[in-house]
Amino acid sequence: MDKTILETLSNKGELNTYDLSQELSADHQAIVGAMKSVQSLGEVICVTQKQINLWVLTKEAEEILSNGSYEARIYEVISDDGSSQKSLMNLFPNARIGLNKAMSLGWLRIEKNSTGGDPKVFKKVDEIEDRTKSVVQKIKDGKVKDIPDATLKELKKRKLINAVIIKSFDVTKGPHFTTEVTKMETELSPEMLATNSWKEKKFKPYNFDSLGIMPSSGHLHPLMKVRAEVCQIFLEMGFTEMPTNNYVESSFWNFDALFQPQQHPARDAQDTFFLSDPENAREFPTDYLEKVQKVHESGGYRSIGYRSEWKLSEARKNVLRTHTTGVSARMLYKLGQMEKFKPVKYFSIDKVFRNESVDATHLAEFHQVEGVVADYDVSLASLISILYSFFSYLGIKNLRFKPAYNPYTEPSMEIFTFHEGLKKWVEIGNSGVFRPEMIKPMGLPDNVNVLGWGLSLERPTMVRYGINDIRDLVGHKVNLQMVYDSPICRLDSRLY
Ligand code: PHE
Repeated sequence: MDKTILETLSNKGELNTYDLSQELSADHQAIVGAMKSVQSLGEVICVTQKQINLWVLTKEAEEILSNGSYEARIYEVISDDGSSQKSLMNLFPNARIGLNKAMSLGWLRIEKNSTGGDPKVFKKVDEIEDRTKSVVQKIKDGKVKDIPDATLKELKKRKLINAVIIKSFDVTKGPHFTTEVTKMETELSPEMLATNSWKEKKFKPYNFDSLGIMPSSGHLHPLMKVRAEVCQIFLEMGFTEMPTNNYVESSFWNFDALFQPQQHPARDAQDTFFLSDPENAREFPTDYLEKVQKVHESGGYRSIGYRSEWKLSEARKNVLRTHTTGVSARMLYKLGQMEKFKPVKYFSIDKVFRNESVDATHLAEFHQVEGVVADYDVSLASLISILYSFFSYLGIKNLRFKPAYNPYTEPSMEIFTFHEGLKKWVEIGNSGVFRPEMIKPMGLPDNVNVLGWGLSLERPTMVRYGINDIRDLVGHKVNLQMVYDSPICRLDSRLY
């Protein structure tokens, strides 16, 4: 095709890509592609863009070309002694239009039946000229110039033609015009370097506007995209990621270490998945376990405890972790065991499991985003301040806090934000200052407080990607095309 373009130019001196495509009955885009590849050779050709306004025939017009216009068809079928109007109407789908048109052209006349029966249609002229058909033929032949605008307008109104705009190119010879196209090199090879042949070669310039090929696999799920973004926010705020690579947790770390009473309803089989194999966890730090037992049964650290028997058998039960706060407990325990305390900021984003019935907003497994800050003399005010900055990085500015209850935090606050779409305040997280009953047995110093918060990853993801039913995001009903098509996630506040 490159050659055809150059040879046509050499013979005629100029060409238009669209006209050439018509002449050769070739695809216009293929000619434009070839023209662009010649253009990239340097100054072989000069190109200017030209917009061509074209009329194309609709299916109906194509039909008129082969069968005649509706008005002509009606005219043709009328017998010399007249035809019944009713029978004409049933001849073909647009017969009524044809009759009206033929009437207005003065080709026919209708005679009402004096006895009240069906009117009869008679020919009024001996001969007709099917102008509609001939003008449609003219358009097909590209002879639009001779057709008055009013006629074109009428044909468009009759849905016989449509306007299309074609971007074509006028091409003329360039300063370095030649019909000898040497293919430009696309790669510098070791041989070219060794033989010095690269000096004579012409190299194809890079096209920085071309789009990359869409990878056919390996797309990240939207949840993972949002996770990467949230993870980045925590890292930028100086947080360290906690190891959350255990879906199975002992009740001890999941509940007891968090001062959650053994009779707590959340520990019920209704809310928690218990494991049958291995049913029980075996290893616990003994010293610490005794302290946990004591704080549950009789208190300490100015607490009176739950004053009921604490059973190791209950603490040993393995569960699918119901939150990642068990991991926070393990990390805080480790911190308490260090010789010298040093402030930390931890985060994690990972899966948790709850024995819930699944609906549009609930799943039995979801992701929890968790943050923990342990420092000297931090307070509820510090927590509020940290939450403001954390959520503002997520693009959420309007926060409200509501007192809440968690067995392991006091005070505890649910976090709300105003949802512009729903026009109401919606809960987006839970937070609090960890209780002395939880952190003191771990060995953390007296003037150290620990702040924590948690939220689901699914909710911001659904908001970000406009997904209303969580089952369209996770699970067996997910449309994989959704995963393929979802753009990368940039949270609004981070778009600077
Ligand atoms: N574990 C809490 C939840 O599952 C979140 C939380 C973490 C609350 C830390 C307070 C402190 O909702």
